[in-house]
Amino acid sequence: MKTLIVYFSASGKTKKAAERLADITGGDLYGICTKVVYPESYLKKLAIARREFKDRKYPKLVGDVEDFASYDRVLIGFPVWFGTCPMAVSAFMKKHDFTGKEVFPFCTSGSSGITKASADIAADCEGDVREGLRMNKADEEDIILWLS
Ligand SMILES: Cc1cc2nc3c(=O)[nH]c(=O)nc-3n(C[C@H](O)[C@H](O)[C@H](O)COP(=O)(O)O)c2cc1C
Repeated sequence: MKTLIVYFSASGKTKKAAERLADITGGDLYGICTKVVYPESYLKKLAIARREFKDRKYPKLVGDVEDFASYDRVLIGFPVWFGTCPMAVSAFMKKHDFTGKEVFPFCTSGSSGITKASADIAADCEGDVREGLRMNKADEEDIILWLS
């Protein structure tokens, strides 16, 4: 089973979570990069992200995963933004064919759960979308249980 851990992270928390998942699964890691990088300031990020959601505007992505088709299992990670996944993640999902793949959403967040984001991803994805995991407090046992 070939595993890809793909993530978007604006301030590093989800990147750390993705790296832990790569360690545990032995999968390949890929960070989604947007052409326009989100500003560090929380308030500026908030303003830009809010506008993207309002307009349903997909940010342009830079680069791509090598040989996406070869993966059987894709773990897709993101910070929860306004209760769901950021538009950068939706842009990645739209760009790739997930048919026949197992898809495991994971997130970090201030307090929101992942249920709505997972449902939104499932509605938009041809893959077999499994239950999501909020990684903030997940330990190795939680992760192994989740993936099994
Ligand atoms: C634009 C924006 C919207 C956010 N919306 C939510 C939210 O709806 N619920 C929540 O719990 N946290 C929210 N957060 C907090 C992030 O989910 C949290 O800080 C996350 O761990 C950041 O991950 P990152 O370091 O990988 O970017 C939001 C943060 C930003 C910048």
